[in-house]
Amino acid sequence: MKKIKIAPSMLSADFSKMGEELANITRDGADVIHLDVMDGSFVKNITFGPKLVKDIRKYSNVTFDAHLMIVNPWNYIRQFAEAGADIITVHQEACGEKLKDTLLAIKDLGVKCGVVINPNTPASSIEEVVEYCDMILIMSVYPGFGGQKFISDVVPKIREVKDMIDRTGKDIDLEIDGGITLENCRLVKDAGANVIVAGNTIFSETDRASMIRKLREI
Ligand code: DX5
Ligand code: ZN
Repeated sequence: MKKIKIAPSMLSADFSKMGEELANITRDGADVIHLDVMDGSFVKNITFGPKLVKDIRKYSNVTFDAHLMIVNPWNYIRQFAEAGADIITVHQEACGEKLKDTLLAIKDLGVKCGVVINPNTPASSIEEVVEYCDMILIMSVYPGFGGQKFISDVVPKIREVKDMIDRTGKDIDLEIDGGITLENCRLVKDAGANVIVAGNTIFSETDRASMIRKLREI
């Protein structure tokens, strides 16, 4: 049984004071910091790039998990690695045939790598690359915005990917992202997820430390 890690998504933080928000959420007990990078092309929203990641790096020593929702991600992986990302995940839908090479290129930069799949992308689409990944990220909303409703149809896919991971015999994390609440947290954990992203559920609280603790205890 892998340790459950709670990964607050900075997408729900106040962008005008990212450093302070990051220092606070680290103090509140975040295990991983989830950074949502959006380019307005792969998804219909724009967030931030490597400069912000680099500038906030000094406010936390927790693992930086950069979720790249961008087209041609291979053009930017070096910049995110140099900015201080500890793990970089790229979308299967954005990489196509370059998926395996992109994952290996991330590893070559000395950073952990992972693949992300959207709610309508089958587990079979990543079967051949699971063994090269340090983490697999399953989206439980269509990416682009925080605060959306959890799509429960993805739960069987969490189990399917967990089985694929177990078959490799490797130590690979399974992350779930989108619409996670106290109500559905156990469901995704029981299905096999061990890295739990939560944006709105954590940042909408005044006592964020208590919410992180509750999510972890579930
Ligand atoms: C959605 C992002 C998520 C999002 C999660 O595109 O990838 O990381 O911030 O936020 P909540 O937990 O509010 O759904
Ligand atoms: Zn994300």
